[in-house]
Amino acid sequence: MQKIRKAVFPVAGLGTRFLPATKALPKEMLTVVDKPIIQYVVEEAREAGIEHLIFVTGRNKTAIEDHFDVQVELYETLTQRGKTDILERLQAMQPQPGQISYTRQQVPLGLGHAVWCARELVSGEPFALLLPDMIMQSETGCMKQMVELYEQTGGNVLAVEECDPSQTHKYGIVGRGKDTHSGFEITEMVEKPKPEDAPSNFYINGRYILQPQIFSLLESQEQGAGGEIQITDAMLRLHAEQPFYAHIYRGRTFDCGAPEGFVEANLAFAMERDEMRPYLTRFLKGVLKDG
Ligand code: G1P
Repeated sequence: MQKIRKAVFPVAGLGTRFLPATKALPKEMLTVVDKPIIQYVVEEAREAGIEHLIFVTGRNKTAIEDHFDVQVELYETLTQRGKTDILERLQAMQPQPGQISYTRQQVPLGLGHAVWCARELVSGEPFALLLPDMIMQSETGCMKQMVELYEQTGGNVLAVEECDPSQTHKYGIVGRGKDTHSGFEITEMVEKPKPEDAPSNFYINGRYILQPQIFSLLESQEQGAGGEIQITDAMLRLHAEQPFYAHIYRGRTFDCGAPEGFVEANLAFAMERDEMRPYLTRFLKGVLKDG
């Protein structure tokens, strides 16, 4: 079985749910506590053993490239001022030369199309796909949990969670088959079905391990839900040839593509920090009492 070495991050989206914050700033660069959203997702991938990061970007996204670049002057200034803690933290985040690639999705034709734009960089290997709108909080990262399942099953693995049955129209929904390991065999997949058409209430939470054959299926693909080329439709076609397994993710997920999820993420990650928890707890108790 081939190791999962590469991860694709589709970061071309406009972030319209988050205007005006995203007018000049990529949504992936909004900060949760003191790190940009994209940093959390990249750290999740690296924890899972990913060696090469592939970003599918678009116009106005150069701040992401700058974030992952070496900032020589900044590093020198921090060294001169003896700020070694933060310098070490920045350097630990830094991808090594050649471990990061960028390509552009020139036209916003949908998530499936964005993934297809990475085909030459993925170059025939099974790969991880992480949607940066979703950030996760768990003891073991979501992608690492999935790699553990993948090492037992091979094939394709999707992380799933349960949603309120009335909310299936917001997500890709999977059908539940036989239980296996940390999840179940997937019987079908539908992108954003109405509750009455949904095969279950298990939604795809934005983390995938996919075999490279997905690219030839994406190549010939037509528009699906919302008039976009959908990864879910291509996965359903691949499912005719290869097994798909659901991993039931253990942890919290925040949809940072919308303000509510973003605020929740800020609170949850700040509460994880020893230096902030006591102050925030007092502050929140006060806010709740006044409200
Ligand atoms: C995408 C996928 C969907 C998945 C969701 C998770 O939808 O198409 O299957 O459930 O991400 O966030 P989007 O949020 O881009 O509309």
